[in-house]
Amino acid sequence: MGHLSHDAVEAPLTTSVAWSALAAHHAAIKDRDLRSLFAEDPQRAEGFTVEGGGLTLDYSKNRITPQTISLFVQLAEERGFFQKRAAMFRGDKINVTENRAVLHAALRAPRDAIFEVNGRNVVPDVHAVLDRMAAFAERVRSGAWKGHTGKRIRNVVNIGIGGSHLGPEMAYLALRAFSDRDMRFRFVANVDGAAFTEATQDLDAEETLFVISSKTFTTLETMSNADIARAWLLQRLGEESAVAKHFVAVSTNAAGVKAFGIDTANMFEFWDWVGGRYSLDSAIGLSTMLAIGPDNFRAMLAGFHDMDVHFRTAPLAKNLPALLGLLTVWYADFFGAQSQAVLPYAQALARFPAYLQQLQMESNGKSVDLTRRRVDYQTGPIVWGEPGTDGQHSFYQLLHQGTHLVPADFIGFLEPLSPLAPPHDLLMANLFAQAEGLAFGKTAEEVAAEGVGANDVAFRVMEGNRPSNMILADRLDPRALGALVALYEHSTFVQGAIWGVGSFDQWGVELGKVLAKKIIGELRDMDEPKLAHDSSTNALIARYRASRAG
Ligand code: F6P
Repeated sequence: MGHLSHDAVEAPLTTSVAWSALAAHHAAIKDRDLRSLFAEDPQRAEGFTVEGGGLTLDYSKNRITPQTISLFVQLAEERGFFQKRAAMFRGDKINVTENRAVLHAALRAPRDAIFEVNGRNVVPDVHAVLDRMAAFAERVRSGAWKGHTGKRIRNVVNIGIGGSHLGPEMAYLALRAFSDRDMRFRFVANVDGAAFTEATQDLDAEETLFVISSKTFTTLETMSNADIARAWLLQRLGEESAVAKHFVAVSTNAAGVKAFGIDTANMFEFWDWVGGRYSLDSAIGLSTMLAIGPDNFRAMLAGFHDMDVHFRTAPLAKNLPALLGLLTVWYADFFGAQSQAVLPYAQALARFPAYLQQLQMESNGKSVDLTRRRVDYQTGPIVWGEPGTDGQHSFYQLLHQGTHLVPADFIGFLEPLSPLAPPHDLLMANLFAQAEGLAFGKTAEEVAAEGVGANDVAFRVMEGNRPSNMILADRLDPRALGALVALYEHSTFVQGAIWGVGSFDQWGVELGKVLAKKIIGELRDMDEPKLAHDSSTNALIARYRASRAG
């Protein structure tokens, strides 16, 4: 069971030998400057660049020395990282609070691989669903699948939220260049009716397919939007029998799907060992497959798998997810960094930061470790970001001259998606320049040498020494996207393993759900006399009721 069981007696992180060694090491190098670190080692970039899964990571612009990496490895060993990683890939129930295995790696395993849950190899099940998805996607894309009135499907609306939305939307946008341009894809998550209305206002119901994506098939937002979608369709097509041709479901809950009225023959299943935020490569990716086609979807899975193999086999000091994860711990806990920026230099990755927010913040936003101890160190940082170069004209000012230390991950692609694309070198020049500027800044002497008057020098100094990673791939294609997502999945795992938290549950999301359910009743039942909340919540409810009554 590795080190992640409920009964684990893992020592507190901050008492570990490697932690103390890292603290001492931090004290010794925290004032070192990236300028001097680069000056003293001309091979630094080479020494701190690794490749894996088709991606390159240059992590030389971090506030580290070779000794930092040795201590990272020591820390990982001491925290049972190798056993924890083995336990995950072995199908142990490492999601202990929900008593579930965590096997998203099985979703992208080749047909002949073996991944077992409760002694059963799940890889054939995975490929059976993938084959069904592919057959369905081909029928829809070719026009063989007809809507209720005999028209082909041209619009696909994915209805889901959290892991059942962010991945499909992010991947569709990322890979739109590979999608069928004669089809339209929309994504509805928010329970705000405006989301559904805007997504469907220009769609012809006869040509529209709804993909209801929900692991549990009970999530309030998704069920509400699914009901609205059914009413929208029935209002336009009239007959209940139309639902079968215009609704499919992706879920682990066959009974719930049936109860909603969707034929389970049109349900694509996945399993409880797939976490919502790790489900893009499961049947939750159906809308992505409909957009880019089965071959491209399989290429994306191959990219995920490339990174899985790298994560399982590369030595820690050359392991991209391990390095990324350990650097996150380093800045969060030793430099006090509260947040981490993700800055893709690719417009197509516009939703990638949002996707990573759920992946990392829902996974590691925990303050109790697996031995039920309240932690006395920072866990998952706040993840945020926007594509470059847009962000440069917005929040980069703070990155360069603000008082917060914000480690940044830059992501770039050597080739443009199309040879006809506008000059790619403008984009790439900005990418490289930003990482350079953050690391090395501009000294007072350099500013003065530009002829700036003495009174103005202070305002124009950039102190630099602001750390970043540079992640590069050849091209933003399905394979690279798969590798990139898997890189961050495994980095998230590494962070959780070091912090000793359970990265695969999300109990914090539950409170809001329960409270909202109670208030829904109170908003609807105006006659309910007694509101038993705090005075603020009572007043807000009363105000809303009054606006409805008026
Ligand atoms: O936000 C909480 C959560 O449970 C996520 O983990 C999940 O991705 C999302 O809700 C949606 O859940 P479901 O797919 O069951 O509708």
